[in-house]
Amino acid sequence: MLILGIESSCDDTSAAIVADGYRVLANVVSSQIKAHEKYGGVVPEIASRQHLTNILPVIDQALEQAKLTIKDIDVLAVTNGPGLMGSLLVGVCSAKAIAYAADKPLIAVNHLEGHLAALQLQEEPWLYPFIGLIVSGGHSSLYLVSGNSQYRLLGRTRDDAVGEAFDKVAKILGLGYPGGPVIDKLSEKGIPDAVKFPRSFLEKDSYDFSFSGIKTAVWHYIKKQLRGKAELDDREKADIACGFQRAVVEVLVVKTVKAALDLGIGRIAMSGGVACNRYLRQEMQRVADLSGLQLHYPKPEYCTDNAAMIAAAAYYRDRNGDRGGVFAIDAIPYCPL
Ligand code: KG4
Ligand code: ZN
Repeated sequence: MLILGIESSCDDTSAAIVADGYRVLANVVSSQIKAHEKYGGVVPEIASRQHLTNILPVIDQALEQAKLTIKDIDVLAVTNGPGLMGSLLVGVCSAKAIAYAADKPLIAVNHLEGHLAALQLQEEPWLYPFIGLIVSGGHSSLYLVSGNSQYRLLGRTRDDAVGEAFDKVAKILGLGYPGGPVIDKLSEKGIPDAVKFPRSFLEKDSYDFSFSGIKTAVWHYIKKQLRGKAELDDREKADIACGFQRAVVEVLVVKTVKAALDLGIGRIAMSGGVACNRYLRQEMQRVADLSGLQLHYPKPEYCTDNAAMIAAAAYYRDRNGDRGGVFAIDAIPYCPL
């Protein structure tokens, strides 16, 4: 079965064609980083205008790369939430128009379900049950995934998403946007524990997260270091980046592994932009090995926002018989999984 997926929930315009829920024939992502970087974050109005310009060329490019035409596609899929309303509307309206004109079914996909379906974009199916951690610019959530489309939310952030914390700390340090990849790289040059930031574990046994406190802690630390001088040197910036990264990674790893051990689940997985982080991957692997757990995460291009994961999620929705009418689909900015 050939599914054309469309994703436009935040600042990436993406279209992909996936065969049988896992074989990616094309995955085109048009990034808007250049348009947003001078603001240090995504500007919703700019994002929706850029999606409008990009969406049809991106869909055409995906079909071209896969050497297919719209006639060859069996089902269309589109992210209908959560995300920025203006951004979502561009994807949803385009998908509805194409599905109607080409007389194809259209499946609405929850963006978070897409991030979890990214785990299936490989030859070998990733088996259930597993503990799934979604860590991105908009979300930090922990799920027990017990089957196809069967999720139990175990915990989520009470304030900032972890990717947002990476982006804000990078902004305070003057490192540019998006902050995650820069902090990931710069941390390698930092001395571990030269700077130690607090770990926010919240109540005992809580699987929730909180990342706003560490952002403030970094800000206060920098202010203190700056007393009497104009700016931090590269060595200090690297130590701060490293200290911040170690603090947030420790919380993510401990809570994910604890959930698996508490619930007696032998498999853990992570997805979303922050799951590209090399130190997080290394630490999660180290602790998973120590705890006898199996760990899986998608390739970096399927961790960050992409339409291949949306097509994959739609494949499983379709297997559950979840096809709705094209006109019943709406963009829903807040729709937790
Ligand atoms: O999944 P994604 O592309 O979009 C959302 O759904 O939010 O995630 C984007 C987030 C950004 O905050 C970015 O800084 C972060 O993922 N990110 C990283 C890394 N690569 C991307 N964070 C830490 N380390 C990375 N290597
Ligand atoms: Zn995402």
